[in-house]
Amino acid sequence: MRHAESDARGSRHAELIGWWASERRDLPWRRTRDPWLVLVSEVMLQQTQVDRVLSYFKAFAERWPTPEQCAAAELADVLATWQGLGYPRRARNLWRTAAIITEHHDGRVPADLEHLLALPGVGPYTARAVQAFAFGIDTGVVDTNVGRILARWTGRRLAPAEAQRIADELVPAGESWAWNQAMMDLGAQVCTKRDPSCIRCPAQPWCAWAGEVLGSEPSDRPDPADRSAGVSARQAPFEGSDRQARGRLLAALSDGPLPTERAAAAMGLEGDAGRVQRLVDELIAEGLVSAAGDRLRLG
Ligand code: ADE
Repeated sequence: MRHAESDARGSRHAELIGWWASERRDLPWRRTRDPWLVLVSEVMLQQTQVDRVLSYFKAFAERWPTPEQCAAAELADVLATWQGLGYPRRARNLWRTAAIITEHHDGRVPADLEHLLALPGVGPYTARAVQAFAFGIDTGVVDTNVGRILARWTGRRLAPAEAQRIADELVPAGESWAWNQAMMDLGAQVCTKRDPSCIRCPAQPWCAWAGEVLGSEPSDRPDPADRSAGVSARQAPFEGSDRQARGRLLAALSDGPLPTERAAAAMGLEGDAGRVQRLVDELIAEGLVSAAGDRLRLG
């Protein structure tokens, strides 16, 4: 590496980590390096805000602190504990992952990318988050916040491989855990999607987009993060969605089995028998619900 380049990196690390020393969030999954608990937290955080995850993470970690314990649980219990967090397929995948870890990995979460990616529900983001946050492996963790930061720093929309390469290059050797957590906090607290606070951002000196933000009206500055790698698209409206109806049925079933004929009312879809049937069939196919006789139950 040329000296100037290496100096520039060194100062970025110092700036960001210095900012983070006073601004870091104290989160329960940051107090552990246990790979299973890190995996559980990262699966929960995939599509859900930090504030909502907190109580679910604590409940899950207390109840199933190891993959063996989770694998031995009834799926219905895991789904009931997940109730209200959303995207329940994640719970089923985690439960299946617990069984695979128990049976094929001696009860230990694997550290290498290939084995992590082979686990149900573990994609490139979650695999690298486990590598960095549980094992301290030097790799860039690109979630929606970090994807947004990288696009703004470079000033252009990034393709996935490019975003990953840039993220990897930025990680200071041996400081993967702190660097990646700091990047996430910067994205959550300063370099936010709608209202970035460039004035108090430690990355301002090297951010291509900060200059434009500081000198212009919002409408004059297309955000390079829009549709860039890792940055999630806006979610479809929840009200009236299949997701809402599915969530209602799962909520009802977490209180106990239900006669099939009551599914429509539980979903708020009376008079729409075709849609009810389709959604129930999908939940059964995904293994989230089972039918026994004329009753539906969780798991
Ligand atoms: N989102 C995903 N992983 C996170 C983490 N480790 N800390 C805060 N937010 C996160």
